[in-house]
Amino acid sequence: MELTEVIEKRRSIRKFSDKPVSRGILTELIREAALAPTASNLQAWRFFVADDPELVRDIDSFSPGLSGKPPVIIAIASDLAEAERRGSKNSLVYGLMMDAAMAAENLMLKATELGLGTCAIKSYNDKAVHKLLKLPDTMRLEILISVGWPAAEPREPKRKAMEDVLFWNTWEEPEASEEAAEKPEAGKEAVRTDNGKSAARAAAAFASENTQAQQFNKKELQDLLIYMITSAAGLPGEPHMYGPLRLIESSRRLAGMLGDAYGGAVFEELTALIDAGKGKNMTDPEGFCEMLQDAAAKATELL
Ligand SMILES: Cc1cc2nc3c(=O)[nH]c(=O)nc-3n(C[C@H](O)[C@H](O)[C@H](O)COP(=O)(O)O)c2cc1C
Repeated sequence: MELTEVIEKRRSIRKFSDKPVSRGILTELIREAALAPTASNLQAWRFFVADDPELVRDIDSFSPGLSGKPPVIIAIASDLAEAERRGSKNSLVYGLMMDAAMAAENLMLKATELGLGTCAIKSYNDKAVHKLLKLPDTMRLEILISVGWPAAEPREPKRKAMEDVLFWNTWEEPEASEEAAEKPEAGKEAVRTDNGKSAARAAAAFASENTQAQQFNKKELQDLLIYMITSAAGLPGEPHMYGPLRLIESSRRLAGMLGDAYGGAVFEELTALIDAGKGKNMTDPEGFCEMLQDAAAKATELL
């Protein structure tokens, strides 16, 4: 594939197949990532490739922005000790992050060329993932990248018009363009949509005949709790629309579990309503708010 074709083809993938990715391929990705430029040629990044299914699942649990059950998660971290020893003050403040971003793009482009899907993830719980990867305090997590074979072709995100982003020599007021891409696509899929019904079905499979309380699977409840805590922890640094999104996603998961445990059309209608509208939070804020109002109205039927 030509470089331009690879660049144009890369999409954030948020649905992966179960097919594993070989360590040979993963090593190739890291080799290309490590060819990216770094400030002062510091090369202080370290690449942690999680391909152990249990570790991947655990990182996934603490990463509200991660979607689609990837078989591999690559964490790019910076060795602060090395940067302090060899780098400048600037490298600690912003250089390392830029270095990691450049390596990440190399990695994602190489993955695209190989037919793999990736998604950059910044919405994860830093402390929890740090701990899960057993990183020393001198290591700073910069970004996660999900990696796997794509199971769905995402639609083209909106892009800003060239006249809005390209300036020859000096800045001048851009002509008001059709607001082709006012809003970033980011948060739309930032929600994990894969945990709902099947998880609730699993809960129902665990169901005991005896009491209603026993009909919930402890693991599913714990997952929901973790999702809520990590969502809350991520919010101070995230765009304001993520708050309603995380809250309604938590509600959707709970509604799914309640529906499978107790049955009832209201739970089914609620989950369908939320699933249909939650993706609108970035592209169609009014439609998103309308869905929230509809969900609240629907919930009155539970009274
Ligand atoms: C620094 C950074 C952080 C991101 N964090 C997330 C994230 O937490 N969850 C997610 O689903 N996508 C995340 N993305 C992916 C963007 O949403 C995506 O790149 C953007 O919507 C454009 O779509 P495209 O990658 O298909 O071109 C992130 C991208 C970048 C560069």
